[in-house]
Amino acid sequence: AAMPDQERRFRASIEDIGSVPVGPRRSAERAPIGDDFDNTPDSDPALPATREWAARAVTAARPEPTSPHLAITEAVDDVVDVARTAQQSWAARPATERADLLRKAAREIDSRREELLAVMAAEAGKTIAEADPEISEAVDFARYYADRALELEDGPMTDGARFTPFALTLVAPPWNFPVAIPIGGVLAALAAGSAVIIKPAPQTPVCVEVTVAALHAAGIPEDVLQVVRTDEDEVGQHLVAHPGVDAVVLTGASETARLFAGWRAGLSEGARVLGETSGKNSLIITPSADIDLAVADLVSSAFGHAGQKCSAASLGILVGSIADSPRFRRQLVDAVESIAVGWPSDLGTRMGPVIEAPSGKLLRALTTLEPGETWLVEPKQLDDTGRLWSPGVKDGVRPGSFFHLTEVFGPVLGLMRADSLDEAIELQNATDFGLTGGLHSLDEGEILRWTDAAAVGNAYVNRHITGAIVRRQSFGGWKASSIGPGAKAGGPNYIAQLGTWTSDGLPT
Ligand code: SER
Repeated sequence: AAMPDQERRFRASIEDIGSVPVGPRRSAERAPIGDDFDNTPDSDPALPATREWAARAVTAARPEPTSPHLAITEAVDDVVDVARTAQQSWAARPATERADLLRKAAREIDSRREELLAVMAAEAGKTIAEADPEISEAVDFARYYADRALELEDGPMTDGARFTPFALTLVAPPWNFPVAIPIGGVLAALAAGSAVIIKPAPQTPVCVEVTVAALHAAGIPEDVLQVVRTDEDEVGQHLVAHPGVDAVVLTGASETARLFAGWRAGLSEGARVLGETSGKNSLIITPSADIDLAVADLVSSAFGHAGQKCSAASLGILVGSIADSPRFRRQLVDAVESIAVGWPSDLGTRMGPVIEAPSGKLLRALTTLEPGETWLVEPKQLDDTGRLWSPGVKDGVRPGSFFHLTEVFGPVLGLMRADSLDEAIELQNATDFGLTGGLHSLDEGEILRWTDAAAVGNAYVNRHITGAIVRRQSFGGWKASSIGPGAKAGGPNYIAQLGTWTSDGLPT
């Protein structure tokens, strides 16, 4: 397949990179509607790339974390005590003051963009095109939750209810969005008036450290926001189950959510694990769809960050004649085969590595065909690290099969067929999860039917299904994709769930 011209341009060497999509283009204030996490180079970057930046990203060695790795439970107890004491003066500050600090934090994060890009590439394998809008998302979270902090202080009091923030929130983020998700949780809790301990994912501690350093530089006190590294061993369990931790904000696999909920079950507030978990997301394409757009959106949703997004499209559900349309199939194969796979230090890379050599469900998905399945594009392991894989597409995924129902979190897309839109919706809603979902259709009746019936937290019509935007598209799941009260990140109710509400002096 011929390589699209856009991609050829993107494969340029460091010496002649022209324009790399760097810049705060995802800021809610500046981005046009629909702008997003996709891999398309932005021809109008607000902050032009520099050769110096490129050189730094390329030479970034995998950095060493500096935050303490706590290996004894007594150390955890000390951190919790310090945080709870510090929280009292944090919560006593007027919301305007906390909001000002969050806005300063936004500027600090933005000013460390180059350092963050380099660390995100080195630790998480993110390409510039993926890492850059993620940094903008962190900036957006800071500004957005600053506004919500003011609202929380002013607004809901009128009906007689009073909000008391959790004294201490533990934020347990994943590695796949190693800046925006950790810092989004941290900023929300800080905005609410809570102290925060952040326990970075073991794969991406330095991304968290650099972002937390930005918050400290902005004036967030170091005892109000502390980084603690532990493993998921008894020390980690001691932290997660600690009675001094009022809530755990988790973004991670459903298995982790169940583990944490179990660890906290003995506490009086044992249910207070909240957040967003796994997904098994699909994009339905009907015969009325614009094929060019549908293919582009299916491919970017499936293979952005090598499919390692809870929001990724893992399935394309093809309705009626689309399933056998030679044009659709040819365009899909061409698009997938022309994705340049490599390391982020090669600026031509469109799809980077997976976080570690695949095992378990992902390895099965990449290397095994279940009954009825055939490879439309067979994925290949590209080097000895085991981390570089070309993207794969399997056709003929059967209802109820392993690939229909299981989150695999990697660069493999499955295709299913449905005779009608109703059947497609049934297939889409059949999984335990309900995170993102999409429809490509130019038929208004189909769109209305689908938006009524889609059992997903984030429903997208005629666009890709990843890359929710703070304030415009708050992000969260339904069904098994959510744990706790379920208010969506980057949305109006998120910080209000990080505390207790009392009315007439009684907890509600
Ligand atoms: N917010 C991301 C997205 O929408 C997932 O965490 O893709």
